[in-house]
Amino acid sequence: MLEISNLVVRYGSILALRGISLEVNEGEIVGVIGPNGAGKSTMLMASAAAIPVAEGDIRFEGKSVVGERPEVVVERGISLVPEGRHIFHTLNVGENLDLGATVRKDSAGVEEDKQRVFDLFPILKEYLNTPAGKLSGGEQQMLAIGRALLARPRLLMLDEPSLGLAPIVIDRVFETLEELRDNGVTILLVEQHAERTLELADRVYVIRTGNIEIAGTPDELAANPEFERAFLGFV
Ligand SMILES: Nc1ncnc2c1ncn2[C@@H]1O[C@H](COP(=O)(O)OP(=O)(O)O)[C@@H](O)[C@H]1O
Ligand SMILES: [Mg+2]
Repeated sequence: MLEISNLVVRYGSILALRGISLEVNEGEIVGVIGPNGAGKSTMLMASAAAIPVAEGDIRFEGKSVVGERPEVVVERGISLVPEGRHIFHTLNVGENLDLGATVRKDSAGVEEDKQRVFDLFPILKEYLNTPAGKLSGGEQQMLAIGRALLARPRLLMLDEPSLGLAPIVIDRVFETLEELRDNGVTILLVEQHAERTLELADRVYVIRTGNIEIAGTPDELAANPEFERAFLGFV
């Protein structure tokens, strides 16, 4: 579904991604773990066409997203829940959710999807008219995921959704990802939280200083002595 090949991204003279290749098959949860500064957010932002690519390609359902406008990529079926959530604190919960649906033309479908988001996160319905800044970190993460779902993505990308959340809230977020996968949403999850990602994901890539170091199923990684070395470096 998503195929990243030999992707190079630079910020001026900083080489953030040094030619990474990665694929996500339809129906999978793919995890990408790695320390701070490894290039995880850069990879997701490039896949959302939010930053320019220096070399290589990113193909979604067979067609490149490189050079596309970000909103076109959303229309094509990729949604990103960005690092730090990027909720609008002064807008209320309902208004924040509506922002996720700006690329949609099927208002009946949007209402249906909103209902699904409320089934997933009932607290958002309760707080519909509350300024989003008043929500807890976990509730804001749910709002950020709900907003992304309102674009009806086929591929949902999440950048460190567990960051700053209490363990019990992280459980809820990870359970939600499993539910979404079971409902046909393919997921690319970036995390520093390696252990939980290994529990959840179908396949995992380890990224460090702009390179993919190791990849495999969680079982394959557990059996790989190289993984232990890479893994111990940042857990
Ligand atoms: N806007 C930016 N300008 C310059 N360098 C950046 C910028 N964003 C990220 N970087 C650098 O690119 C590298 C990868 O960053 P990032 O993708 O944010 O890593 P991660 O998400 O894994 O923590 C790091 O060296 C970081 O300092
Ligand atoms: Mg990051």
